[in-house]
Amino acid sequence: METTQIREKFKSLYGAAGNVYTAPGRINIIGEHTDYNGGFVLPGAIDKAMYCEIKPNGYNKVRAYALDLEESCEFGLEEKDMPSPSWSRYIFGVCREMIKRGAVIPGFDAVFAGDVPLGAGMSSSAALESCFGFALNDIYKLGFDRFELAKIGQATEHNYCGVKCGIMDQFASCFGKEGSLMRLDCRSLEYEYVPFDPKGYKVVLLNTCVTHELASSAYNKRRESCETVVAAIAKKHPEVKLLRDANMDMLKAVKTDVDAEDYMRAEFVIEEIQRLLDACDALTKGDYETVGQKMYGTHEGLSKKYEVSCPELDFLNDIAKQCGVTGSRVMGGGFGGCTINLVKDSLYDAFIAKATEAYEKKFSIKPKVYDVIIKDGARRIED
Ligand code: GLA
Repeated sequence: METTQIREKFKSLYGAAGNVYTAPGRINIIGEHTDYNGGFVLPGAIDKAMYCEIKPNGYNKVRAYALDLEESCEFGLEEKDMPSPSWSRYIFGVCREMIKRGAVIPGFDAVFAGDVPLGAGMSSSAALESCFGFALNDIYKLGFDRFELAKIGQATEHNYCGVKCGIMDQFASCFGKEGSLMRLDCRSLEYEYVPFDPKGYKVVLLNTCVTHELASSAYNKRRESCETVVAAIAKKHPEVKLLRDANMDMLKAVKTDVDAEDYMRAEFVIEEIQRLLDACDALTKGDYETVGQKMYGTHEGLSKKYEVSCPELDFLNDIAKQCGVTGSRVMGGGFGGCTINLVKDSLYDAFIAKATEAYEKKFSIKPKVYDVIIKDGARRIED
């Protein structure tokens, strides 16, 4: 994205020039709803990102302007100063979480914009948090490392935005590397870069362009179900702190102690953690057909057991199957947003034509298509 408009707006609002930073959205090949259960994820940062220009303003308030929304907001940085526009809470939250960790943050001016589609499961909010986190850490020399910045973004979601998310999105946005996925163990926080260049295949996102209401409360409810089941298992196996520590036998042993719905959620998570490990094995062997089958398995589980899909996403997944697409599934938190598809080059054009036409006919919405390009994480791009 060009930053010219951001720079012009900044100059016209504040009569000066600051530094420009960016942080990307993400994809995730497989491993969904596993992060807050201590499992693995396999995300990559993408070429869609948030951008901000920022400069200390010499007084104790933040003045921020959201270019895409043409909205401005001014706020102080004490807990009582929480601003009301939802976008401003991400910035406020990042500042507050830094202050809670001992940072001193003098006032600053900022203009931001981005091309991560909102509500599409590509983590626009994590991109915004990481962009401001990285920028403030840099201009005020706060000394947080990238892990702490990711945790600051995650804590912002928990404490200022009401979403009890895992660490995947903020981690991917902070640690992304061009051409590589990241295999993150969300329990130990160990990670490795996995070069990703599936020869003969493309990875493409199809955006349903729907976001269903109450996604965040439904998300939090999923997390609670997992925690309830962990508590039941821990009565017999005190070493189990997260679903990652449990296996199917342990789960089966508490079947009559937990609610049927909670049981089904936990079953999905335990299966999904294994699916990711199998997919990673297949990836190292260049066996994309197996990776694709695992992706379909994830979709099935997310739709039937975790129940975070929706008719629009299921429809796109069915079309992918009908077209012989190698792998397809709902990506991210669910309840709308995108499917991620692993498609043979030779099938790509026919699949996109069929999927967009059929989807529009059925739902009267034109889906959006994004080819996935894996890029770097948060960074300063202009002085
Ligand atoms: C959202 C959350 C992540 C993760 C995914 C599902 O993107 O922010 O932490 O839980 O959903 O995998």
